[in-house]
Amino acid sequence: MKKIRKAVFPVAGMGTRFLPATKASPKEMLPVVDKPLIQYAVEEAVEAGIDQMIFITGRSKRAIADHFDKAYELEHELEAKQKTKLLKIVRSIVPDYVSCIYLRQAEALGLGHAVNCALPVVGNEAFAIILADDLIDGENKPCLSQMVELYEERGQSVLGVERVPQEDTNKYGVVKATNLTKNVFKIEEIVEKPEPDKAPSNLAVVGRYILTPKIFDMLKTTGKGAGGEIQLTDAIAALLKQEQVLAYEFSGKRYDCGSKLGYLEATVEYGLKHEELSQDFRTYLQGLTASLND
Ligand code: G1P
Repeated sequence: MKKIRKAVFPVAGMGTRFLPATKASPKEMLPVVDKPLIQYAVEEAVEAGIDQMIFITGRSKRAIADHFDKAYELEHELEAKQKTKLLKIVRSIVPDYVSCIYLRQAEALGLGHAVNCALPVVGNEAFAIILADDLIDGENKPCLSQMVELYEERGQSVLGVERVPQEDTNKYGVVKATNLTKNVFKIEEIVEKPEPDKAPSNLAVVGRYILTPKIFDMLKTTGKGAGGEIQLTDAIAALLKQEQVLAYEFSGKRYDCGSKLGYLEATVEYGLKHEELSQDFRTYLQGLTASLND
């Protein structure tokens, strides 16, 4: 079995929930404390042993390519001012051995369509998908590394899942699954954004996937689904009929940074863990909580 070496980042979405912040800059560039969401996603892929990052981009997404590119003028200036710490940060955004590939999705036809755009680069090997607006703080190990371990053990597609409140099933792909071991399930059925009374369970897919290349055969014939879009979930439903697909309940905490509340929660909690800020931010929050309770 081949190692997982490629990760696909669908980043062509419009980010309408964060307008006007996302009018001219991509939602994936929104920072949590001091790093953009897309950098957290790429770092998670690097930690999982991936060395080819494939971004499926769209209009007004140039900032993402610039972020992972060399910034000569900036580096020159930081060097001249002897700002060595900042220079190191700017230079180490991705390790040298990592390659970044950008493919353009001409029309935003859905997540399934975006993933299918990666076919010429992914080819015939299993690969990962990360949706950057699901920011995951893995407990002892990043979420994707946990999933890669399971893939290496079983050689089957793996979807990251978590339990969500029943009333939220219509925001996610939801699976019906049989428990195999503590946090591993065999998926029987998967539906995109079912209403709470129709959902097969409350086990929801978060933005982490490892898929075998057979998914591309399924995507070829996947028509429009929920919301009139070509859904990855529908292609996975077709894949299930041909191969076993696993659901993995990861250890860690997910922040839904596609929503304003989830984004604020991530900002607060990552701020509290930040090595430079932690102390001062905690003191500030304690003061704030006290004043809120007055
Ligand atoms: C996408 C997928 C959905 C998945 C979700 C995770 O939906 O279509 O199946 O559960 O990501 O965040 P979106 O959030 O893009 O509407």
